[in-house]
Amino acid sequence: MHLSDGGELVSDCFALKGNICFSSGKEKLNTFPDATVICEDGLCKGVYPELPDSYKGIPIIDYKDCLILPGMVDLHIHAPQFTFRSIGMDCELMEWLKKYTFPEEALYADTGYAERAYGLFADSMKHSATTRAVIFGTIHRDSTLILMDLMERSGLISYVGKVNMDRAAPSELREESPDASAFDTFGFVNAAEKRGYKRTKPILTPRFIPSCSDALLNELSEVRRAYDLPVQSHLSENPGEVELVKKLVPDAAFYGDGYDRYGLFGRDAKTVMAHCVYSTDEEVERIRKNGVWVAHCPNSNMNLSSGIAPIRRYLNCGIRVGLGSDVAAGQSESIFRAITDAIQVSKLYWRYIDNEAEPLSFAESFYLATEGGGSFFGKVGSFREGYEFDAVVVDDSSFPHPRPLSLAERLERAVYLGTDQSGLQAKYVCGERVYEK
Ligand code: GUN
Ligand code: FE
Repeated sequence: MHLSDGGELVSDCFALKGNICFSSGKEKLNTFPDATVICEDGLCKGVYPELPDSYKGIPIIDYKDCLILPGMVDLHIHAPQFTFRSIGMDCELMEWLKKYTFPEEALYADTGYAERAYGLFADSMKHSATTRAVIFGTIHRDSTLILMDLMERSGLISYVGKVNMDRAAPSELREESPDASAFDTFGFVNAAEKRGYKRTKPILTPRFIPSCSDALLNELSEVRRAYDLPVQSHLSENPGEVELVKKLVPDAAFYGDGYDRYGLFGRDAKTVMAHCVYSTDEEVERIRKNGVWVAHCPNSNMNLSSGIAPIRRYLNCGIRVGLGSDVAAGQSESIFRAITDAIQVSKLYWRYIDNEAEPLSFAESFYLATEGGGSFFGKVGSFREGYEFDAVVVDDSSFPHPRPLSLAERLERAVYLGTDQSGLQAKYVCGERVYEK
């Protein structure tokens, strides 16, 4: 047993005791009241109603009547936008970027500001139910490295990207040239690798096609190949944006083809694209074929009046889907909130748009928040044997009920009532305890 930076290794082998819930596949939500889940060398060894004889004597941490769940996965969040979450919900995407986002992101040229603002972000992530996140920084290399330092200490496992943009932004957020942007990205990745992080990795982050010229994407394709980097970006989020992209890249077959032409859209490059609200049939087929992850961000899609992504269709055709908070277009970093939003918008989609697109069930949306997004990180997001041991302990006792509820009912209620905010008791990532109330 020993202590490690930012996390505490309880023991190489231990068990958590409590009310255990986890998905195994899209439709199957498992609930085990008063059971134990075993962790050995950072991996899950299964859930048992009683501790098996072969594990007798291992430390057991008893969380009594709390819920024990796999950690939540946020496939899309903007760290520099954390400062203005829940402010400025009065416009659509392009105007919102101009009015709120770009002025705030420009402040991160100052590393002192980045220290303070990212400190608040990382602290909030540490105290959330999120154990894994895919994160946008800004175009600023040094500030994004500060963000990585802070995320490393938060205990979460994350991908963090220095943003690339060379057009359609105010001059202070426009990189000088495609060359300069690529050079800075090389520098960013090199510096990140030298720091030897255990939990934090760089990810290539062209913001979206409107802010990346073809010359820039071409440069970035080389950076990607040189370091075998994963990729994150935005895709087909808003009608005006989609029209703009058609004008900017008239020779691309569709929006996503604008990335794919440069090897920045799945296949060899592990890629997550946020939104995919307006993807055409051709784009959907390319997403599927290339194995691109879709980060579904329903709260953002409501706040910016973007629309509703057809998640039922994506699941039916085998596309990989997870959930994203998309702070600050998303109002909060809560993935519990994203679970309920995803269900609710799917009901509106079914009612108003396509009565064959059955609404998402609670089990399906819980799956998206855990295993669905977790697959971007490997075997993550479940207590199935062999999965990396990420767990959150949630206390729902502040919402008493006059009669006993089933564990499935308690889980659903805990998610809808947002107990991830005040009820988080403990958090484990890869078998290390990174937070305890
Ligand atoms: N598209 C390009 N940049 C952004 C951003 O910061 N947020 C959202 N929601 N969409 C984007
Ligand atoms: Fe976004």
